[in-house]
Amino acid sequence: MAGLIPQSFIDDLLNRTDIVDVVGSRVQLKKTGKNYSACCPFHKEKTPSFTVSPDKQFYYCFGCGAGGNALGFVMDHDHLDFPQAVEDLAKRIGMDVPREERGPGNRSRQPVDSPLYPLLAAASDYYRQALKSHPARKAAVDYLKGRGVSGIIARDFALGFAPPGWDGLLKHLGEDPLQQKAMIDAGLLIENTETGRRYDRFRDRIMFPIRDSRGRVIAFGGRVLGDDKPKYLNSPETPVFHKGQELYGLFEARQHNRNLDEIMVVEGYMDVIALAQLGLRNAVATLGTATSEEHLKRLFRLVPSVLFCFDGDSAGRKAAWRALEATLPNLQDGRRARFLFLPEGEDPDSLVRREGTEAFQARIHQQARSLADYFFEQLSEEADPRSLEGKAHLATLAAPLIEKIPGANLRTLMRQRLSDLTGLGGEALQQLQPAPPAPPQAAPMDSPPPYGQPRSERPSMGQRRSSPRASRAASGVEPPNLSALRTLLHHPELAQKVENAGSFAAEDDTYAQLLVALLEALQKNPRLRALHLIARWHGTEQGRLLRALAEKEWLIAPDNLEQQFFDTITRLVTRQRERRLEHLLQKARLTDLSADEKDQLRRLLSRDNEAAPASTSGL
Ligand code: GTP
Ligand code: MN
Repeated sequence: MAGLIPQSFIDDLLNRTDIVDVVGSRVQLKKTGKNYSACCPFHKEKTPSFTVSPDKQFYYCFGCGAGGNALGFVMDHDHLDFPQAVEDLAKRIGMDVPREERGPGNRSRQPVDSPLYPLLAAASDYYRQALKSHPARKAAVDYLKGRGVSGIIARDFALGFAPPGWDGLLKHLGEDPLQQKAMIDAGLLIENTETGRRYDRFRDRIMFPIRDSRGRVIAFGGRVLGDDKPKYLNSPETPVFHKGQELYGLFEARQHNRNLDEIMVVEGYMDVIALAQLGLRNAVATLGTATSEEHLKRLFRLVPSVLFCFDGDSAGRKAAWRALEATLPNLQDGRRARFLFLPEGEDPDSLVRREGTEAFQARIHQQARSLADYFFEQLSEEADPRSLEGKAHLATLAAPLIEKIPGANLRTLMRQRLSDLTGLGGEALQQLQPAPPAPPQAAPMDSPPPYGQPRSERPSMGQRRSSPRASRAASGVEPPNLSALRTLLHHPELAQKVENAGSFAAEDDTYAQLLVALLEALQKNPRLRALHLIARWHGTEQGRLLRALAEKEWLIAPDNLEQQFFDTITRLVTRQRERRLEHLLQKARLTDLSADEKDQLRRLLSRDNEAAPASTSGL
C-alpha cells in the first residue's frame, strides 16, 4: 500500500496548477469573456455548455452538471483514481509526490496492483480480437447479429469470442508456467487436479468482460452460442473479483454518462446489452446473484434513484423482495427506489426489442411502483389487512423493516401508512420494534477525511457515517447546518473565530460532522479555500455536497450570513454539552464516575448557562 499523500502537498499542487492548462490540454477551449468554454467531454452535445473559470479554478457543465477542480477533472476525464490524478498533475509541473508512511509495518511505497489485471486485460484483448478475425468467428458474429447487437455496442462493452478448442488462450498467453499459474488464479484456465492438465475455462462462447469502476477487466461472463449447458459461465471468485459486489454494465453506463439520474437493475447480461442497444444506457445486472446491500451502497453513491426491473413470475417477485430488503438500509431521505414487473415470460431484452424504446419508457413511467407502494402491496398479500388478524400480522411484518430505513422523513411516512392500514397507533407499533440503540456518547471525531486515498470505493469515513442528503424532501427550507456549511465554504476565514469545533464532534447529523471536519481542516491550515476543501473530499458524497454548495454561491443573500453561522455553531455546541451532561448524569446514577468525568460534570454544570463558543464580532 502506498503511503498517504500529505494534504499540504495537495494544497500546494492545486495552488500551482492552472485548471485552464489542465483542461486545455485535453479539450479544445475557446475564450468567452472571462471564462473558457467547450463542448462537454462528459456528455454528448453540439453547442458548448462546458465552462472553465480561471478565477474560481473550477469547471462546470451547464448541460450535464459535471464540475469540479483540476484534480477532479483529471480523475473523471482520464479515469484515474485520486493518487493517480495527483501524480499526473504533479508530473506536469515537475513536482515529486511525497508519501507519508502509514503507521507501523513500513509497507512498500509503490501501490501494489494485482498482476491479475494486466492478464485479464490481455485475455479480453484476445477474445475481442477473436471476434474480429478468428476463423471460427462467423457463428459468434451471426449469433450477436441475430440478437440485434451492433458493432458500436460490441465495442462499448468490449464483447469478445472465446474460440472453440481447449487451449486457444493458453497458447496465446501461457507460454510461461508461472504465467499459467497466474491464469489459473485469474479464473482463465482450469487445472485438472488428477491429471494436472490445464485448459481454457471459456470455450466457444460469447465473452462479456466484467469491468470494475475504473474500467479494469476483473472477470468474464461467457454465453454459449446454442442451447448447451450451462448457458452462462462466470469467472470464479478471484482476488480481484467478488461476484456479490460487482454489477455488470456499471462502468459502461458511467462511461456513457457521468451524471445519471437513475440506474436500472436487471437480471441478465443480455438485458443490459439490449437496453443499451436501444438507447437505454443506464442498465446494470447483478451477476446471477441476489441484489445485495453492497450493490445498493455502490449505486446510491452514484445516483439518487434505482429502478429494479424484474420478471413478473414468482422467482422475479422473490428477487424483487430481496432487493427491497437490501435497499431499506440504504434509503436516506432524498433517495428512492422503484420496481417494475414485466409481463410473464418477458425479460427486458425481449420486451424492449418487441415494443421499442419509447413504449418501454412509457411502461416504466406508468407501471413502475415506488418502494413504499410495492412494500405495502406485497405485505398486504401476505397478511390481508381486511381482517383484524391480518392487520396484526401485517404490523408485525412491516414494523421492523420500516425501522431499517435511515431517512427520518421516509421512515415517519411509512410508519404513518402502516398505522393507517392497521389502525394501530404509534405506541403499539413502537412495541413491535427492536430495542433502540444505546444513546450516543460523546466520542472524539474520526481522523481527517480520506484525502490521498482512492475515492469512496474503499471503506472510508464517508461510508461509516450516514450520508449527507443532497436534497431534502418536501420543505424547501435549508437545514441550518447545511447553511452553515455553505457559509463556511464561501467564507473560510470564519473558521478562525470558532473556538471549540471539536466539542460538537459527536453530532450524528452528517452536515454537522462535515462542518466540524471543515472547521478542523481550516483551523490547521487557514489558507485553504473552497477548492482545496472540495478536493479533500473528492469522490465521496461529502465532496459532491460541497461542490454543489460551492457552485450555488450566488443564490445566497449576504445579509446576516455570519450571524446565522455562529448561531448554528452555538446551538450545536449547546446541544452537545447537554448530551454529554445527560450522559454523565445517567452514568453517575449507575456507577462511580472517574475523577476526570467528575471534573467534566462539574464544569458542564457550572457552564450550563453560558453558551458562548464563538465570537460574533466583526460582521
Ligand atoms: P439470454 O438467454 O442470453 O437472454 O439470457 P438471459 O439474460 O435472459 O438469462 P436468464 O434470464 O436465463 O439468466 C439471467 C442471468 O442469470 C444471466 O445473465 C446470468 O448472469 C445468470 N445465468 C443464467 N444462466 C446461467 C447459468 O447457466 N449459469 C450461471 N452461472 N449463471 C447463469
Ligand atoms: Mn434473455
